[in-house]
Amino acid sequence: MATQFITETKRTHSCGALRGSDIGKEVVLFGWVQNRRDHGTLIFIDLRDRDGLTQIVFDPDLGKEAHERAQKLRSEWVLGIRGKVRARGQQMSKKEGKVISATNDKLATGEVEVEVYEMEIFNESETPPFEISEHVKAGEELRFQHRYLDLRRPQLQQSIIKRSKMNAIVRSYMVENGFLELETPFMGKYTPGGARNFLVPSRLNPGKFYALAESPQLYKQLFMVAGFERYFQIVKCFRDEDLRLDRQPEFTQIDVEMSFVTQDDVFTIIEGLIKKLWKGVLDIDVPTPFRRLDFYESMAKYGNDKPDLRFGLEHVELTEVIKRLGPDAGVPMITEAVEQKGIVKAMVIPAQYPLSRKETDDLEVFVQGMGSKGLGRAKISETGEWTQAPLFKNAKPELRAEILKATGAKSGDLILFQFGKESLVHTVMANLRVHIAKKLKLIPEFGSGGVWNFLWVVDPPLFEFDEETNQWAAAHHAFTRPHDECVQYLETDPGKVKCYRYDVVLNGFEIGGGSIRLHKPDVQAKVFKALGIGDVEAREKFGFLLDALKFGAPPHGGLALGMDRLAMLLTNAESLRDVIPFPKTQKGTDLMTGAPGDVDEKQLRDLYVKTTAQPK
Ligand code: AMO
Repeated sequence: MATQFITETKRTHSCGALRGSDIGKEVVLFGWVQNRRDHGTLIFIDLRDRDGLTQIVFDPDLGKEAHERAQKLRSEWVLGIRGKVRARGQQMSKKEGKVISATNDKLATGEVEVEVYEMEIFNESETPPFEISEHVKAGEELRFQHRYLDLRRPQLQQSIIKRSKMNAIVRSYMVENGFLELETPFMGKYTPGGARNFLVPSRLNPGKFYALAESPQLYKQLFMVAGFERYFQIVKCFRDEDLRLDRQPEFTQIDVEMSFVTQDDVFTIIEGLIKKLWKGVLDIDVPTPFRRLDFYESMAKYGNDKPDLRFGLEHVELTEVIKRLGPDAGVPMITEAVEQKGIVKAMVIPAQYPLSRKETDDLEVFVQGMGSKGLGRAKISETGEWTQAPLFKNAKPELRAEILKATGAKSGDLILFQFGKESLVHTVMANLRVHIAKKLKLIPEFGSGGVWNFLWVVDPPLFEFDEETNQWAAAHHAFTRPHDECVQYLETDPGKVKCYRYDVVLNGFEIGGGSIRLHKPDVQAKVFKALGIGDVEAREKFGFLLDALKFGAPPHGGLALGMDRLAMLLTNAESLRDVIPFPKTQKGTDLMTGAPGDVDEKQLRDLYVKTTAQPK
């Protein structure tokens, strides 16, 4: 009598489990039809589940009924089979006169196949809109519309499974180190600063809105005030930002906060966690402690605070040289830029990586795309002449000598220049550095190439001058603790105040950031003053936190790691979309469900909301 699958016949193995040592065993497998090959009387199916593929064989001599039904099997049908494991390579095709089932070293189960006695078809499948295979041929749009099928692709499935493993590693490490996994609300009060929030209208409170948490920042600090000492959470955060390959509107942080700690204590815990993740997922030993790089040095040499240190192409500051030479330098455009408080930077492309004139022109187009006026250049010839250098046509020999000295450029090298507003020069030079490194194949386009360059970027300024408002603004947030020796400048010279904020960077990606927090109300008040935030405004915006700090807040600090970015890097993925099961597109939409979608008038009325958008 036929067995009742699932109720009576239980799965004995996954489709990735069988090996030569299992030959002769009777097994039950469940899975999906990956493909079907018909060899006259024999039918071969690759049966797939999340663990792998097993070849199964239908032979009328061994299971007549199963063989008959196997004729109609198609891709993605769902089966249960009972059969016996045998070695591959025994079956001769009568028609073709050769072995039709050779061993396959590339497959973990490649030594064996299962001869089927009995089969249950759990479900049929329509022909999928794209082939479920390792090699993605279908476009992203089609795959996103059928994400549940896309997620069947082994590569994507393995990445998502790795995330599950990462979650397990994080939880066990954090608990072992005395951290409590505590939850915080997603729906909170809107507080200004940081990222733009998603808002949720409150039906019970007409005209009022919750903000979806951009991070649990204030709550985790309140946990410290409440005395929980060590908190962590694997938590969703929501930010209404412009999206990129490494940015999603809804993403996951490993959020951490600790009491009675210094910056070094936070680093030690986080380095330990990263070590565990790399060991557990990739079996790689990451050396610790990570290198530390001063924020200002990072900006000077790489133009940003998340440098990729797998290659050189460091920037060289020339502003002082130009200032010193003044109008005598003979390059009026650069001199003028410096007179208007701009900066000048250069980067050398060594002779061993010769770029054609056309390639250099393409670089100019690239920088113009970022808002730069152009790309200054000078090629140093064998005889020391400067060619391709109209900008330096009238440059004085002293200037050329100073530039060669500062950059170390030699014959055959190409020097590239940017000058103008500091922020633009930094952005352009930072992107140019990475662009050229990819072009010269100094770093892989995507993935790590097996090199894991972790570093901490430390000691940044607490404030940034906002030219639009003509005021000092918090560079990160208003609750970061200044270095003790800088507190004296809070009132007199805010630009000089460095703080205990830190970012952890891997191969050019900011994978985490945090700070030691302000826990003293008097210093907090000075910071607000420097930011031009008066008492009334401070109370209105952050009253609950300020109150909490008055009741014996312990010294505390923490950090949040970007879980999706870690997963992207750990799986060599090209984008966060390859490590998030149900991601959003660049436009923040979900092509499968159609979110964000329309709601009817009544729903809006109930929420006291009116839209001004024109119907499309
Ligand atoms: P921060 O804003 O630096 O810090 O965020 C921490 C880390 O989260 C990741 N991340 C993102 N990942 C994907 N998509 C996004 N849109 C996105 N935005 C940020 C980054 C980043 O380093 N509350 C503070 C942490 C603290 O001070 O403890 C915070 O959220 O990898």
